[in-house]
Amino acid sequence: MEIKAVKFRKDGFYSQPFAFGGEDGMDKYDKNVRYRGSLQNYLIDTGSEVILVDTGFTADVPVEIPNEESLAFTGEAISDYMTAFKALGYKPEQVTKILLTHRHSDHSGSIGLFPNAKIYVNAHELGAEELKGLDNLVPVEFTDGAYYNFPESQTIMDGIHFIKAEGHTRGNSIIVVEKDGLFYMLHGDITYVDEALYENKQSVVFDDLPAARETLDRVREFVKNHPTVYCGTHTPQGYESLEANRVMDLNNPVPTVFAEVNFSAREASGKYICSICGYVYDPAEHDGVAFEDLPDDWRCPRCKQPKEKFNPA
Ligand SMILES: [Fe+2]
Repeated sequence: MEIKAVKFRKDGFYSQPFAFGGEDGMDKYDKNVRYRGSLQNYLIDTGSEVILVDTGFTADVPVEIPNEESLAFTGEAISDYMTAFKALGYKPEQVTKILLTHRHSDHSGSIGLFPNAKIYVNAHELGAEELKGLDNLVPVEFTDGAYYNFPESQTIMDGIHFIKAEGHTRGNSIIVVEKDGLFYMLHGDITYVDEALYENKQSVVFDDLPAARETLDRVREFVKNHPTVYCGTHTPQGYESLEANRVMDLNNPVPTVFAEVNFSAREASGKYICSICGYVYDPAEHDGVAFEDLPDDWRCPRCKQPKEKFNPA
């Protein structure tokens, strides 16, 4: 059994108000403190099956241009998710199972591109906009009972457990892989950055805050009592821990390396992206007409949204 990170964005950041401010309020924290960000999902090669934990953005999701006020930046593109997946040496047809931590598009975007995969998802996530039109969903009902201090779980196969961990979204789940005496916790946004786990802080993104608090308490309890490699989606510490088989020790935090962001290095390209459907307006494809010079009643040719729904890229 091998676990690999599928890395597709790097050099992003999460500000302290975003990463810590869910319970105390964002104004308690300093927006100039920025923790390193990245985007990666995970792949489990069991030797006989290829299993994905989440499936990135679709290729057409643009990279944002952050400024000093930005609370979060998902990072520069390394490649799109599918290119990153294929670069690990796999073909989409080989994937037999996708274990979805939650519905958000940075975790589920490319989910429809694996023709032979069954998609395991917490039944509470069914009906989500992001999962519409998929006919290969397997609702997980958590019929196997407790997994250590987590009350509800389901064993997907020997050593791979799907654990109810709600709060960030209504149907959030954690995947734990047992390997060589360690517990690899592959999670979708229990925390955005590992510093929030050490500091016991909730991010500002949640559907159900009391449930998210209960989940964070259970995760910290689990990590205290079991040698856990804590693999997040939005911080380089996720894949750094995986690649070093580094066990999370809440009493001895890995020292924080703050993100360095050169905002002036990110010049606008002149392209604009529809925040609703991802359509890219490129002046080069429109006789050089700048987006700013389009008439006020111009609308997205794909989804008919007005100009103000577009962001610079
Ligand atoms: Fe996420």
